[in-house]
This record gives sequence, structure tokens and C-alpha cells, in this order.
Amino acid sequence: MITITFIQPDGSMTAAQAKPGRSLMQIAVDHGVAGIVGECGGSMACATCHCHVDPAWLARTGTPTPGEAEMLDLADGELRPESRLACQIMLTLDLDGLIIRLPHGG
Ligand code: FES
Repeated sequence: MITITFIQPDGSMTAAQAKPGRSLMQIAVDHGVAGIVGECGGSMACATCHCHVDPAWLARTGTPTPGEAEMLDLADGELRPESRLACQIMLTLDLDGLIIRLPHGG
């Protein structure tokens, strides 16, 4: 199992358990994490899954594709170098312990 910690702007946290092969957005929605809606179902068409990857994890989550970067430009919340669309991060065992911050509450 993979454990992911979501941290809200007010500092409250949700620890979520996940199996490999699902997207970060799906796990956030399953656990009712505020600030991640996933309106388009993960087809990279809504930007309602904007999140900030903890900088220590960036090497493992990778960087946005050009298409993802375009959608991020439309996202609510502060755009940072560590901004990603959660639907584009597929969970693997080496992401166990991942820390995600939400740019804004839901
Ligand atoms: S869920 Fe729509 S862009 Fe990620």
C-alpha cells in the first residue's frame, strides 16, 4: 500500500491509503479531500485537481507534460513550480509517503 498525506491551507491533514495504478486525483476524491474535485474524470480537461507536490518529491512525481502545463495555467490557486494536476500522477510504490498540499480549500 501507498500512504499519501494531503495538507490543507489551514494545516489540517488527511492520510490516504492507496494501491498502485490509480491516479492521485482518484485517491483524493475517494477520501473526500477538499480542494480536489476531478470534474472531468481525469481527462486533463478541467484543472479542478490542481495540487502542489512537496518539493522533496518532485523528482519522483516528474514534471508536467506540455498539455498539462497549459491546463495548469487555467487552474485556480497559486501556480508554483511544484504545481501538478493530480489526475496526471499515477501512483507507484515508490510514491509511498508522498506529501501533497492543496492550493486552496474546497
Ligand atoms: S481531473 Fe480534470 S484535469 Fe485533472
